[in-house]
Amino acid sequence: MPCPRHLRATARRAIAPEPNIVRGSCSDRLLRAVRALPPMGLAFDFAIARAAKLVPALDDSYDYRLTIDESVHVEAEMEWGALAALATLAQLAVQGTLPTCEVRDAPRYPWRGVMIDTVRHFITLESLRRTLDGMWLCKLNVLHLHLTDDQGFRFRSQKYPELASPDTYTAAELGELVAYAADRGIRVVPELDVPGHTTSWLAAHPEWGAGETDAASRRFGVHRGCLNVADPHVVAVVAALLAELAAVFPDEFMHFGGDEVQAHPRPAQTAFHRQVVAALESLGKRAIGWDECLAADLPPRTVVQAWRGNTARDRALAAGFDCVASAPYYLDLFYPAEVHHAYDPAGDVAAAEKAMIENPRLAHVREGIEWMAGFADFPILPSRSRGRVLGGEACLWTELVTDELLDTRLWSRLPAIAECFWSGGGVSIEDLYERLTATRRALAQLGIVAEDSALADAYPDLMPLIEMLEPVKWYRRLLGDAGFARRVSGIGGSVAARPYDADTPLVRIVDRLEPESPASRRAEADLAAGVPMAQWLDGWRAQRTAMARYPELAGELLDASCALAELAAIVDGRSNVDAASLAGPFGEYLLPVAYAVAKRH
Ligand code: ACM
Repeated sequence: MPCPRHLRATARRAIAPEPNIVRGSCSDRLLRAVRALPPMGLAFDFAIARAAKLVPALDDSYDYRLTIDESVHVEAEMEWGALAALATLAQLAVQGTLPTCEVRDAPRYPWRGVMIDTVRHFITLESLRRTLDGMWLCKLNVLHLHLTDDQGFRFRSQKYPELASPDTYTAAELGELVAYAADRGIRVVPELDVPGHTTSWLAAHPEWGAGETDAASRRFGVHRGCLNVADPHVVAVVAALLAELAAVFPDEFMHFGGDEVQAHPRPAQTAFHRQVVAALESLGKRAIGWDECLAADLPPRTVVQAWRGNTARDRALAAGFDCVASAPYYLDLFYPAEVHHAYDPAGDVAAAEKAMIENPRLAHVREGIEWMAGFADFPILPSRSRGRVLGGEACLWTELVTDELLDTRLWSRLPAIAECFWSGGGVSIEDLYERLTATRRALAQLGIVAEDSALADAYPDLMPLIEMLEPVKWYRRLLGDAGFARRVSGIGGSVAARPYDADTPLVRIVDRLEPESPASRRAEADLAAGVPMAQWLDGWRAQRTAMARYPELAGELLDASCALAELAAIVDGRSNVDAASLAGPFGEYLLPVAYAVAKRH
């Protein structure tokens, strides 16, 4: 995963755990990449047409041809394609055997990104390096680092060191990360989010603010505190910070944020964006901003990152702006992989949106999904020659993610999204999940992602329940039930008290759950195949008894526990309760297997 464009394979043969060797000459970078592979007793030869570059660029070639017979032959125009070939090899080898094969492959989109919010919870450099390893394995090639927000500032500026949070990255550390990424064919794009999401700045410099400031905020959501976009000194500060970042990040693109600003009317925001874009262009950079920046007089080379539904993408394209599609790829919304996988960054979204709205597992947030799908508060701009969809970017906002929880949230679904960006759909759901499972196994076997056994260690006898649970979807955890109701009724979410802020410990069962329950999917497949369910049902009944040993969990899990026991009774033919009514939500938990039982019983 992602599925290669062309793969012809014959017999598999066993791999010998002997050192790999490179025959002939190859670059230092490729030598390092071969050395990082598991020992497979393979001899490699490389034919790379063009000279090595320091870092990748947007339209660089990742095409490759990989032939595995007695040895491994890699042909590519650029090193990046050879690195992609090695990722394919690493995935092919996961079963302990290798096929004799020829793979010819090329990506559909040049921008295959992941955005990590390093602010709401600090993400360590070690985790970012692990993320880059996994991105290489899945042929993702842009790491977008969201470095500043209301709760913190994760870049230690030389000029404004007072802005930095206690947990922060130095320029030297980020420079090393850029080199580490380039060794995996990955670009790193930094984001300085302005003019909103800046109350952390205002804690140190209230004089940079406009109107109300709630400085050093720990709460989530949109804040009124904002940089004063009309102040030339503030523009100069932003330009100086961008210049410092430009010295660290060699990529052609830099992100200026621009999202969720309440304090200023749209024309004032656009005037500010124009100055920020001009500052970036004077640094030799191309600007990218969230879709709030869409405006007629936004400089035309600015890239629009569409996050509020797909209308943003289509309006931006029609107005001539290049786009990165993110709306269907928000990993913090706890959606199943198949939901994301149904979207093509440049494709028609009607069928995928309809499927989401009709998906019973998402019914408890249907109003939120419909609101997002119908969101169209964008200007209709004069049409120009159509912009280009550069690709897509999965986004992981970390309000409910700590460094420790990062891997599960990312890798549960990210390989499926990587496939949308590299090769696209046209696969069955069964095939998708079979390959997603194999890819996750490869990530574990290569030592990139460790399986999280904390829940199984802490609650072994409750696992038949825990493994069937999922967190509620969309922004429902973040908003809370009352906030969710207000948001979808149009009253707005920021008034209602939210259940989480940046200091809330994320140590409950719901925090560690997989966003999508693999066990639930397996049980659903067994129900559909008509295989005996006795083992499942034994567990579903036993967990109900085990609950008595965890009185502290009764408040949040007792209803779900009773529902799962009732589902066992329905499958056994001892209950006539409507199974679909047992899916929840139970607080922040869902029991999606109820829908599968409802289909069969
Ligand atoms: C965003 O999710 N505020 C870009």
